[in-house]
Amino acid sequence: MSDAKTVFVRTYGCQMNVYDSDRMTDALAPVGYRTTDNLDEADLVILNTCHIREKAAEKVYSEIGRIRKVKDARAGGDKPMTIAVAGCVAQAEGEEIINRAPAVDLVFGPQSYHRLPELLKRAGNGARVVETDFPTEDKFAALPAAEKAVMMKRGVTAFLTVQEGCDKFCTFCVVPYTRGAEISRSVAQVLDEARRLAEAGVREVTLLGQNVNAYHGEGPDGSDWGLGRLLFALAEIPGLDRLRYTTSHPRDMGDDLIAAHRDLDCLMPYLHLPVQAGSDRILGLMNRKHTGADYFRLVDRIRAARPDIALSGDFIVGFPSETEADFQATLDLVSEIGYASAFSFKYSPRPGTPGANLDDQVPEEVKSERLQRLQALINDQQRAFNLSKRGSEMDVLFEKPGRFDGQLGGRSPWLQAVHVEAPAQLLGEIRRVVIEDVGSNSLVGRLIADRPAVATPAEDASRVAADAGGVA
Ligand code: 5AD
Ligand code: SF4
Repeated sequence: MSDAKTVFVRTYGCQMNVYDSDRMTDALAPVGYRTTDNLDEADLVILNTCHIREKAAEKVYSEIGRIRKVKDARAGGDKPMTIAVAGCVAQAEGEEIINRAPAVDLVFGPQSYHRLPELLKRAGNGARVVETDFPTEDKFAALPAAEKAVMMKRGVTAFLTVQEGCDKFCTFCVVPYTRGAEISRSVAQVLDEARRLAEAGVREVTLLGQNVNAYHGEGPDGSDWGLGRLLFALAEIPGLDRLRYTTSHPRDMGDDLIAAHRDLDCLMPYLHLPVQAGSDRILGLMNRKHTGADYFRLVDRIRAARPDIALSGDFIVGFPSETEADFQATLDLVSEIGYASAFSFKYSPRPGTPGANLDDQVPEEVKSERLQRLQALINDQQRAFNLSKRGSEMDVLFEKPGRFDGQLGGRSPWLQAVHVEAPAQLLGEIRRVVIEDVGSNSLVGRLIADRPAVATPAEDASRVAADAGGVA
């Protein structure tokens, strides 16, 4: 298209934002936008923002300052630039962004992505548009179906949002305010999108939701389906060899979901199950609705169902009033569970959340010191987990060219990065690999069989489709 416009999207934050950015570009394609990696040539710049922790908003403002220079340089020419702020900072700050950053033309929250073409039209008429309402229509149904050609570019792994928003109201968290109440997409919508992805050559799908295991979508029979049942249905789709999901709340690990871990080989043995803290007093103040003992019991049940499962988690240090003894309970929990990886953060008071109003905020230097100790423990565990794989065989899905010529980069079932000498035509394939070396963040493997690791007729059919589209 000769008069095509270009859009540059910068994505901050979580995987759902990555998914959302793709859906925004999908929504813009029918109105003539193609994506560009070059900010300088873009007609439209979208910052898809994150508000989960401190300074996120400040980062956005300084980024707008930089982009504004490009916009100003073009002023009066025949290629004006539109600047849009999307995502959770847009939802939380709304009008304030327009007031503070006059270069911004359009501010819109996560519930308005399907209306992007219309919002742009309004902004194009010189109006400055702020759209942060929670509309009643189904955003997912209104977003255009992803074009196969667009999906092909996304490679062999893909995200698929099945659930959005959260009703848990942990006292530190902005998500219930920025993403709104929990909603689940229907089973039919999810299966349809997953089938399209598989047909486009995607081999691994990660189901996304802020609280994904609270999924309760309407099934074809009119009843509510939980995440476990959904996973059993997804496992039937030809070509989808690997399923993952994130992020889970311990309270919502239902029996059907644990059974899925027991019964489905394609459900990868890796579970991100944040607990946030080890002290019951702090867990109470965080409104997590479970104790440390509840978490241990749950992990025991999950490990009984799938003994090789790798656990990951999120931790917050320095929540208001956290004492050294409370923090020690977090260290004890981590030592006892044994994580394959984990993320840890200093508590940052988020405006509008109950935690921000609690007395007894923990001094910054205490938070920093605790974070260091926790991260040292987590790093040791991650190293130990990686080392435990040395000499073992595993299936690796090759996702991208490797760091060096002749190498491919892939993932183990436990989400570890694996570098392997392998021919480029194995991109998009799963192969058996033996692990010969272990680095701090990745494994080095050697191909031990040039045949599919998981050979099913369905998989062979999908490979033909992928080849035709040029993925492999
Ligand atoms: N301060 C620090 N960390 C936070 N997280 C969420 N909100 C905050 C906050 N206010 C962390 C939690 C969550 C992860 C995505 O981010 O650990 O699981
Ligand atoms: Fe935030 Fe997760 Fe708690 Fe929901 S369950 S409020 S998304 S931390």
